[in-house]
Amino acid sequence: MNLLPPALSAIQKETKALGFDMSSDVLTGTLLRTLAASKSDGSLLELGTGTGLGAAWLLDGMTADARLISVDNDPAVMEIATRHLGYDDRAAFVLQDGLQWLEEMQAADQYFDLIFADAIPGKYDGFELAWRLLKPGGVYIIDDMLPQPSWPVGHAPKVHQLMRDLTHRNDTYVTEMNWATGILLVTKSA
Ligand SMILES: C[S@@+](CC[C@H](N)C(=O)[O-])C[C@H]1O[C@@H](n2cnc3c(N)ncnc32)[C@H](O)[C@@H]1O
Repeated sequence: MNLLPPALSAIQKETKALGFDMSSDVLTGTLLRTLAASKSDGSLLELGTGTGLGAAWLLDGMTADARLISVDNDPAVMEIATRHLGYDDRAAFVLQDGLQWLEEMQAADQYFDLIFADAIPGKYDGFELAWRLLKPGGVYIIDDMLPQPSWPVGHAPKVHQLMRDLTHRNDTYVTEMNWATGILLVTKSA
C-alpha cells in the first residue's frame, strides 16, 4: 500500500527535463494519498495540475468509485499529466483558467470532499469560490506556506494574510504543519 504511485518516477523525470520546479514533493504526496484514501467514494479537486505529481498521489489513494477533477491553464504541463494519468477514468483533466473554471462551477450542483488548492486561483484569488465548493466536513489543503525559493517578491505578506484569514473564520478547523513545504490542513465545519 505504501509503494510509490506507479507513474511517479516517469513523471518526475519529465518534470525535471521540462525544468518545472513547482511540483509537490514526496512528503506532501504521501499526505495527499493518505487523505484521499479517507474519502471513499469522494469527489476530489486539484487546482493546479502541474505535471501531475499531486494527482498521481491522490489517484493512488482514491477508491475505485472516487473521482478527481484537476485544473491547469498550461498546456505543456497538462500534456505530461494527461499522458501519464489520462488512462484513469476516475480522473478528469481540465485545461482552463482556474478562476474562470471556479466561476463556472458556482452554478453547477457539484461539491467536493477534498480540495488541494495548488495554484493562485482558489488560494490567493477567488478563495471564496473554491471554499463554497467544499462540502461541510470536507478538507482544504494548501502547501508552500513556509518560505520557498520560488516565492515571488512580495509574496510573504499574502501567505501570512491567508493563514490569518483561514484561522479567524468561524467555519474552519485549521492545522498549521511546519513540515514539508509548510502545509495548512483545513476542515470546513458542519
Ligand atoms: C504549484 S504548481 C502545481 C503542482 C501540482 N499540483 C503538483 O502537485 O505537482 C501550480 C500550477 O498552477 C498552474 N496555474 C497558474 N495559474 C493558473 C491559473 N490561472 N489557472 C489554472 N492553473 C494555473 C500552473 O500552470 C502550475 O502548473
